[in-house]
Amino acid sequence: MKLTSEQLRKKWMDFFTKRGHTPISSASLIPENDPTVLFTTAGMHPLVPYLLGQPHPGGKRLCDMQKCVRTGDIEEVGDNSHCTFFEMLGNWSLGDYFKAEMIPWSFEFLTKELGLDPDRLSVTAFEGDGDCPRDTETAELWQKCGIKKENIYFLGKKHNWWGPAGQTGPCGPDTEMFYDTGKPKCCDTCSPACDCGKYVEVWNDVFMQFNKNADGSFSPLKQKNVDTGMGLERALMNVQGLPSVFDTDVFVPIVKKIEELSGKSVSDTEWQKSIRVIADHIRTSVFIIGDERGVTPSNVDQGYILRRLLRRAIRFGKGLGLKDGDYSSVAQVVVDKYAEVYPELVAARDKIVHEINEEQARFERTLENGIKEFEKLCTYLQTDIIPGKSAFRLYDTYGFPLEMTIELAKERGFKVDIDGFEVKFKEHREKSHAGAEQRFKGGLADTGELTARLHTATHLMHQALKEVLNDPTVNQRGSNITPERLRFDFSFGRPLTPEELKAVEDKVNAAIQADVPVVCEEMTVDEAKAQGAVGLFASKYGEKVKVYTMGKYSKEICGGPHASHTGELGHFRIVKEQSSSAGVRRIKAVLE
Ligand code: ALA
Repeated sequence: MKLTSEQLRKKWMDFFTKRGHTPISSASLIPENDPTVLFTTAGMHPLVPYLLGQPHPGGKRLCDMQKCVRTGDIEEVGDNSHCTFFEMLGNWSLGDYFKAEMIPWSFEFLTKELGLDPDRLSVTAFEGDGDCPRDTETAELWQKCGIKKENIYFLGKKHNWWGPAGQTGPCGPDTEMFYDTGKPKCCDTCSPACDCGKYVEVWNDVFMQFNKNADGSFSPLKQKNVDTGMGLERALMNVQGLPSVFDTDVFVPIVKKIEELSGKSVSDTEWQKSIRVIADHIRTSVFIIGDERGVTPSNVDQGYILRRLLRRAIRFGKGLGLKDGDYSSVAQVVVDKYAEVYPELVAARDKIVHEINEEQARFERTLENGIKEFEKLCTYLQTDIIPGKSAFRLYDTYGFPLEMTIELAKERGFKVDIDGFEVKFKEHREKSHAGAEQRFKGGLADTGELTARLHTATHLMHQALKEVLNDPTVNQRGSNITPERLRFDFSFGRPLTPEELKAVEDKVNAAIQADVPVVCEEMTVDEAKAQGAVGLFASKYGEKVKVYTMGKYSKEICGGPHASHTGELGHFRIVKEQSSSAGVRRIKAVLE
């Protein structure tokens, strides 16, 4: 079937809205208030509070397409089906329908809407263990739809259990749908559990009924949910019968541009991987920089992932002969391709081009010397192991991300002492007080009182900053809350003076002393804006949002949760104000 990305997105949303689902917008790629993961990795991620039982303003049935980044398989990028960025088409039942509705809908969508051959579909179901019984109900439902018995596989937790997205949170048994590419079986036991490429996953329905606790145990959730996810790129590849995701319409113009700039062809096996890696990594970088909470390259957190993606693209581009400005030209093609679906990219076009050019210039300054240093190492080493100390030097002095050194080493038959690198890296981190581990301490669903209070304090501080700095461009750029402190990034071009910091503290403490109630109301984004609410919320469907009002002190669009009165907050104190990236300041503050 000929099906474009635009048509697939529309088919998805139409199918589920017809079945009573409220369409919601894609959340940011950068999760708010979740210190356990760097990026949104699945459609369910921004919906965790609702899967746990909080009512969603859109009701009990939702559908969307969610921007996702997963870098765990970065080494696989270049094969036929892996991407670091993808769009996940998703639908949810929040304690509403369950298996008996979802499985027939899945069958109908795959065979009727996408026209996939039912005889080429294989499905899996959970085989059962001490935590959850064997899912015979799912298998029976599939059989009733018309899936042949021999195409239904029971598998264990490793394959048929999804989640949580972070360390703790909602999860459950799932049923995955695979399409048979027609390749011969790789062995007698070849099944969808096998990664030989015969079976390609198209969709995953998770029956989210458990919460994984910090101690590793599972407890039943208040409600039984359905959480499904279909990767848009892979679905297009299957439906169109194409050999790879890079042949689908979302990638074709990007790949073409790289071919044009380099004079090399993606069908030439010598250059295929490089062209695909650049197409993938630049596309992901565009979405990270151009996100409504976008970040810029740096040495920490999301900024470092972005740096690694860009530098890896630039290294592969060297071989292809790409020059200054070529990467940002590729980025422009990405922005054009997605302009209609993700207008935030168009709004950030100049920033995207600027950041990519800057990072290229920064890396090019040290890349040649780093490569020379690396070659020298390979010549003089007595063993085939590159010491951790040398890998760290390549990182620290020449800006080589570790996996780049590993890849370069592999190409020349060397290994890298990764543990040795980690030791050096940790020493360095401890010296610079960056303490990466700290950021991963809190739990995914940490909605305790402490974080709720800090969340409320964040709203008050946001408003106080706007008033004290008296600058309309002061806006939230990021927020991260642990039970110990809040961290807030906002756009502003210079350090704050001690007087300004004091004024912000005083304003927040005055609002706390006034002990006003924190009122939550649901309304459309337009209504919220008309009432002067602030907040980051790109709405495309006129959906309802929550607005939290704290007397005359603050009105902000937000998902919550919050304290019930400002008086619960105690005393507010700013502990640090520093630069976060160009044009962005960062404040850390505590309640005591
Ligand atoms: N959350 C499920 C997944 O990511 C649907 O596969």
